[in-house]
Amino acid sequence: MTKLQATANHFGTDVTAGIEAEPDGVITLAPHLAALWELAAPFLDVRNNDAHTLYAFGLASALLDAHPEADAAVVLPAIMLHDIGWSQVPPSEVLAAIAPGGGRPDLVLLHEKEGARLGAELLGKSGYDAAKIPAILAIIDGHDSRREALSIEDAIVKDADKTWRLSPHGIDTVMDWFGLDRGQALRLCSQRVHGHLFTDEAKAMARALSALESVTAWPQRQQLLKAGPSAGQNAGTTSGGDDGRASI
Ligand SMILES: [Fe+2]
Ligand SMILES: [Fe+2]
Repeated sequence: MTKLQATANHFGTDVTAGIEAEPDGVITLAPHLAALWELAAPFLDVRNNDAHTLYAFGLASALLDAHPEADAAVVLPAIMLHDIGWSQVPPSEVLAAIAPGGGRPDLVLLHEKEGARLGAELLGKSGYDAAKIPAILAIIDGHDSRREALSIEDAIVKDADKTWRLSPHGIDTVMDWFGLDRGQALRLCSQRVHGHLFTDEAKAMARALSALESVTAWPQRQQLLKAGPSAGQNAGTTSGGDDGRASI
């Protein structure tokens, strides 16, 4: 569970007046895309695809910042709708489709085709710019099975989708898909992501995420987690043990 509220204020003073409302890098969801999300979400309620989609959308937004030549009006709806086709695959077969050691390529293709079909319906219903729709659907249809990227927009969608696996939410999710401990999930996701990305920015993001998760698995880090907050921290310093409140 992501920590959303402080459990202490070691400094003792309110510092919130110095926090900007919209600093660089903090992203929001534009109203027309929030409306598209409302249409898509019922089709994403399987295998954590809803939260996966939101986090992958966030990564795609960050990649767009690095690629101003890419058309955000294609990338953002494509990443939001890319997995809606899983809703048309029997839930009992969804994980078999992507399991290590084989998988079901037929079901992967099915979710891509169904995703493009449903995507056309939802984009039409939302009144989306018709000129953008063919490119959006072309990305959805083949987003997993196609080895090459059709365009920079396709590359960004593919990279955001894959890089999510190494995010904290991605590792949490993959652990429970296959009954893996955190280290096993990290190794599985690392072998499936590194070497399969298109943009330099996603490659750097993915290596950073793998590195952070690697450190979490180190005995040195585990020992600090087990120890809980250090005496020094309780006395007002910011070094030592970490219960989520370590120095930044
Ligand atoms: Fe997919
Ligand atoms: Fe996906």
